[in-house]
Amino acid sequence: MKNHSIHAERRRRLLDKVDGVSILPTAPHHLRNRDSHYPFRFDSHFYYMTGFTEPEAVLVMISGQDPKSILFCLEKDMEREIWDGYRYGPEKAKEVFAFDEAHPISALEAMLPNLLANQRVVSYPLGQDEKWDRKMLAALNEVRGMGRSGVSSPADIRDIRAEIDEMRLFKDEGEIELMKKSAGIASSAHKLAMKSTRPGKMEYEIEAELIGEFRRMGAQSPSYNSIVAGGANACILHYVENNAELKNGDLLLIDAGCELDGYASDITRTFPVNGKFSPAQKAIYELVLEAQYAALAAVKPGALWNSPHEAAVKVLAQGFIDLGFFKGSVDGLIESGNYRQFYMHRTGHWLGLDVHDVGIYKKEEHWRTLEPGMVLTVEPGCYIRPAENVPEAYWNIGIRIEDDVHVVDGGHEILSIETPKTVEEIEDWMSS
Ligand code: GLY
Ligand code: MN
Ligand code: MN
Repeated sequence: MKNHSIHAERRRRLLDKVDGVSILPTAPHHLRNRDSHYPFRFDSHFYYMTGFTEPEAVLVMISGQDPKSILFCLEKDMEREIWDGYRYGPEKAKEVFAFDEAHPISALEAMLPNLLANQRVVSYPLGQDEKWDRKMLAALNEVRGMGRSGVSSPADIRDIRAEIDEMRLFKDEGEIELMKKSAGIASSAHKLAMKSTRPGKMEYEIEAELIGEFRRMGAQSPSYNSIVAGGANACILHYVENNAELKNGDLLLIDAGCELDGYASDITRTFPVNGKFSPAQKAIYELVLEAQYAALAAVKPGALWNSPHEAAVKVLAQGFIDLGFFKGSVDGLIESGNYRQFYMHRTGHWLGLDVHDVGIYKKEEHWRTLEPGMVLTVEPGCYIRPAENVPEAYWNIGIRIEDDVHVVDGGHEILSIETPKTVEEIEDWMSS
């Protein structure tokens, strides 16, 4: 059985920081079509505070002198459990997940006004789900209606996510352990994909290898739709059709990561379909790799969030000039923004329970400072569509190199380190 003391500890920390009553529902279970559901994925904030993975659950936390965490969840129901599977039920959930109280979810609506009564502040994920907004407003109105019997109603409605976002931004040891495993599985999948690729195969056959390896190694699912983009498809940033044939002489860009116990990995590698880079492909690849190394060197405590991006852009801009795509100076090219013809996205994002994880990037208009415990991606790229300022040999080359990086004292640690990355490592791995 898993130890949930970490979740109880997180609730204690949050209860210390917020006033009044905080309400945190898990995600709704969405229909895919007719009566078939998408696989259920809990809400990341709810899961972070509870470790509870069942649908139809709500966490209520009451701050103050007698702080309390209350779970509302599905009741035990033998008939439903025969069809849908095991449920903890309130009694067992309270014990296993260390809540102070637990009740059936069916009791929440009736209990909600009393939970809000005489609280000055109520916090919940404001605006995240219209149904919840309506539910909260109805409950608040009901509390207002109790005014003549001496009950006061909350005057202050806040978004609970802001506090939790900041907690989630700093990963603890257990989270880093999981993220390392998640990245290790994704790395293994990328290595298998490299080995499985050859001219004439279809992109979806390689996607199948990725998904197969994720599941074989215990990850629950991909952490986002895998991008398996051969040749010119790599220049479509969110390409997910994955239905084209892989051609001799083309590159294959794979952006794929998995989710392990809620935690995402997010890795991109680009490699030759036939196992050998052409001179033009190698030139662009090594430029992107140099940009990634420059960006990685900027990932350390005290550096600004934007430093890795600026470092990558500088290397790429110089490269575009050296290759003859642009005339003029590096500073001029950066100033004009014209480098975006080939590099139009940013160099990374926070990574955690969500692939684009929570956490603000700027504080009072200033890029925030990197600190130990943060995890981010470093993912420069170069996407060359046919254009007059580019020799034809480079047309349709799309390359991205993406690693998952943990900020530690004095520098960083690459969680996705096992994935072959240099030209030599990739060619050796594919031919071994
Ligand atoms: N795979 C999504 C991203 O790289 O941001
Ligand atoms: Mn990414
Ligand atoms: Mn990615």
